[in-house]
Amino acid sequence: MSDALRSAAIEILKVNDRGSYTVPTKGLYPFQWNWDSCLTALGQRHFDPARALTEIETLFAHQWPCGMVPHIIFHAQDDGYFPGPEVWGCNRPVPTSGITQPPVAGFALRRLLDAAPDLQDRARPLLARITAWHRWFHATRDPQGSGLVAIIHPWESGRDNSVDWDAPFDRVPSDGVAPYTRRDTQHADAAHRPTKDQYDRYIWLVERFRGLGWATERLHYTSPFQVVDPGFNSILIRSCADLADLAVVMGEDAQAAENRALAAKGLAALPALWSDAHGQYLCLDRVAGRLIDNPSSGGLLAAFAPIPPDRAARIAASIEAHGTRFRVASQAPGTPGFDAKRYWRGPVWLVVNYMIADGLERAGQAEAAAAIRASSLRLITESGFAEYYDPLTGEGLGGGQFTWTAAMVLEFLSMQRSPAPAR
Ligand code: DGY
Repeated sequence: MSDALRSAAIEILKVNDRGSYTVPTKGLYPFQWNWDSCLTALGQRHFDPARALTEIETLFAHQWPCGMVPHIIFHAQDDGYFPGPEVWGCNRPVPTSGITQPPVAGFALRRLLDAAPDLQDRARPLLARITAWHRWFHATRDPQGSGLVAIIHPWESGRDNSVDWDAPFDRVPSDGVAPYTRRDTQHADAAHRPTKDQYDRYIWLVERFRGLGWATERLHYTSPFQVVDPGFNSILIRSCADLADLAVVMGEDAQAAENRALAAKGLAALPALWSDAHGQYLCLDRVAGRLIDNPSSGGLLAAFAPIPPDRAARIAASIEAHGTRFRVASQAPGTPGFDAKRYWRGPVWLVVNYMIADGLERAGQAEAAAAIRASSLRLITESGFAEYYDPLTGEGLGGGQFTWTAAMVLEFLSMQRSPAPAR
């Protein structure tokens, strides 16, 4: 069985391979997405580690001079996606978007090179590039030096329409947005996607930042949407820590020290987001100056950082308490806003499962991690390689033949053979 799954997953990665980058899925997402690519490399490493490194190299070839790594690289013309390059207006040699995404590259590169040390020399230039991205986050998205960085657009979190953003989105206007036609709803069921009201606000923010010439150092303070997401920050912390470890192995001491310091700064600030009542971390609305009282998977994903073991145990218990047939729901079932089929308001996403399971395993929660991995593989055997899944029924939703879902399956299958190492 697992051989058949493995072959099916590899086939999807190959079908979506465009030579030097991989599209998330044909039709719905026809370009290169930032965190999709880094997580895709984790799948590719199981059958072609050199190709996996190319995936990350291609992404970083489009890093902006300020250090930001865009969330989309528009390598080829394709009218099937909105908003395309002309809406972003970023004025880059190869068009890109102007916002970023969860910085999972440091983690992915370390994992890739751990198993393929012969690629170290080729990968060396990436250390400085990823470090520059991490430095950019702290400089531009944490101007007051709190230790935690903010996202300024929901798309940056990857959790586009999470219930977490509902309250801060009340501050984002939607009037004056240029008329547009959505493309995502031509590829996937509109009832499983963000609403028109949310889309208007997504585009309002893009137009606002475009009006500021994409000067990334100015965007944070001028955005009505500034949210500190625990999942996003934990990915940054973990990537800084992992890149520091990798830099030590590769004899890059200055980069090791810088990343180590950034990881420590983030980790020291993370407890401010903890909620004892919810048994997980919460988002902070930086403009309103208060925590967002909502239990989404963003606060469970915080387990990806080296949080204290007692907090990891609480997170494991909170996931168990969801009581869904499949885990991990992106919004706690039964809470206001939960919708089992609508994108990030309930459905299960395998990339989030992967990172939560990895963190829980490292924190000594092996049973909880194994349950998440087993649940993920059951979704694949029941419903195929979908973009996301209904946590109650297991129905596959959104795009099909999904790249990062396939990549995570290769990771889960390899762990069945050799359990993940303890911290
Ligand atoms: C989309 O278009 O749905 C993406 O999530 C934004 O990058």
